[in-house]
Amino acid sequence: PIKENASMVVFGASGDLAKKKTFPALFSLFKDGRLSSDLVIVGYARSKIEPNDFIERITQFIKIDDNDSETKQKLEQFKKMCTYYRGSYDGVDSFQGLNNHLLEREGDREERNRVFYLALPPDVFVSVSTQLKQQCYPQKGAARLIIEKPFGFDLDSARDLQSKLNPLFDENEIYRIDHYLGKEMVQNLTHLRFCNPVISHLWNKESISNVQITFKEPIGTEGRGGYFDTSTIVRDIVQNHLVQVLSLIAMEPPTSLAAGDLRDAKVQALRRTRLGDLKDVVFGQYVKSKDGKRPGYLDDDTVPEGSKCPTYSAIPFFVDNDRWDGVPFLLKAGKAMDVGKVEVRVQFKPVANGLFKDAHRNELVIRIQPNEAVYFKLDIKQPGISSKPLLTDLDLTYKNRFTNMKLHEAYEALFFDAFAGDQSRFARIDELECAWSLVGPLLEYMEKEKPQPAPYEYGSNGPELLGNFLQKFGYVYDIPDYYEYPVTN
Ligand code: BG6
Repeated sequence: PIKENASMVVFGASGDLAKKKTFPALFSLFKDGRLSSDLVIVGYARSKIEPNDFIERITQFIKIDDNDSETKQKLEQFKKMCTYYRGSYDGVDSFQGLNNHLLEREGDREERNRVFYLALPPDVFVSVSTQLKQQCYPQKGAARLIIEKPFGFDLDSARDLQSKLNPLFDENEIYRIDHYLGKEMVQNLTHLRFCNPVISHLWNKESISNVQITFKEPIGTEGRGGYFDTSTIVRDIVQNHLVQVLSLIAMEPPTSLAAGDLRDAKVQALRRTRLGDLKDVVFGQYVKSKDGKRPGYLDDDTVPEGSKCPTYSAIPFFVDNDRWDGVPFLLKAGKAMDVGKVEVRVQFKPVANGLFKDAHRNELVIRIQPNEAVYFKLDIKQPGISSKPLLTDLDLTYKNRFTNMKLHEAYEALFFDAFAGDQSRFARIDELECAWSLVGPLLEYMEKEKPQPAPYEYGSNGPELLGNFLQKFGYVYDIPDYYEYPVTN
């Protein structure tokens, strides 16, 4: 693991991700004592930015309480660790210059451990990696290449990209980011499943009727239409974030939690996973909000006229193995929806004893964000003089249970792991190939048939067809009887 003598170069340092996520995450790690104070951090981009402006820019989203002098002091220390270097993404001179800049900042060191973080457009991944290998690769010390998504556009392009990286960096030096793997509740899936017999013993087709993995965002693609139109909701969210969650839910117990074993288990599950019937897939595209205040997808100037790009999709998958045979995994993702929420909903089969005609389904819900929670919907006897089953829940909402908890940002966990040399939460190339193969027929269908997406209003719950979709795959929607029994503290 890299602890000391490390440098990190953040490519794409003038972008949004850098100021909103990357630098705040690095600062948070530093503040918590998880990064060595000899770490050299270099922001790299093409824009001309004055050193002071750069520091201002990357720290503007770091919020510190006025009275918190300790953290303020840490921030001053952190600022001194960061510099900016301007260069191109392909010129030899730029990268020689970067190397010199690093040498100067690093000073005399026994080894030079260098982490290169590429938050860049994919078309420059190869040229930057090539230059890094030639000009900045450490003679003595570890090299790590962290690559932001998207890794490829489809299976062929992902393979092509990989074949170009192969001669440059070893698989154990490459850290492909899917930031969902850094989220608390996604990391929690292994614990929930493998620490608890009450869950692991029921985790199969005998007990489970259907699984939903849902991503909803309350904002549209405003201003990002150019990127999104070719990406579509399938490439932007489903192929990566949701398929990763699916693999963690579906996998068999891994031999160990080490990166190799964990990722083997995920790949095995993905290789058994297939897309359901194309005719069952629901595609949607948002139109103006009901009150007319929010624009439709097509109203965005950056979107090609008449585009059929889906901003919503509900897609059935099946995992063809002994554990999951016949259980639908429903992956739903949408932009411009009623709420922002990401959750996993595992619905159990109905009770079979016939004693109660009006019993409800059990459901285990893992709310990934916001307001992290695990809750289990179950029936009790209606309190009082009644024998009616009442649907309620065992509720583990994190903020209520863990009152002084500090949850990390996804990027904090991922950078921490990258420094520690732990690849278990990064996507291995074969995982990505599986994920691309899985959505391949869907991408082809969209490309060739150009299906017309169903309209849904900005701020709504998605296309109307969704109701039939869920019903078809056996989801039974029961509203808990909270309203009758409001929770009081
Ligand atoms: C990114 C997508 O990968 O994930 C974005 O490109 C999306 O479109 C984002 O908004 C969602 O991430 P999070 O962490 O806010 O759920």
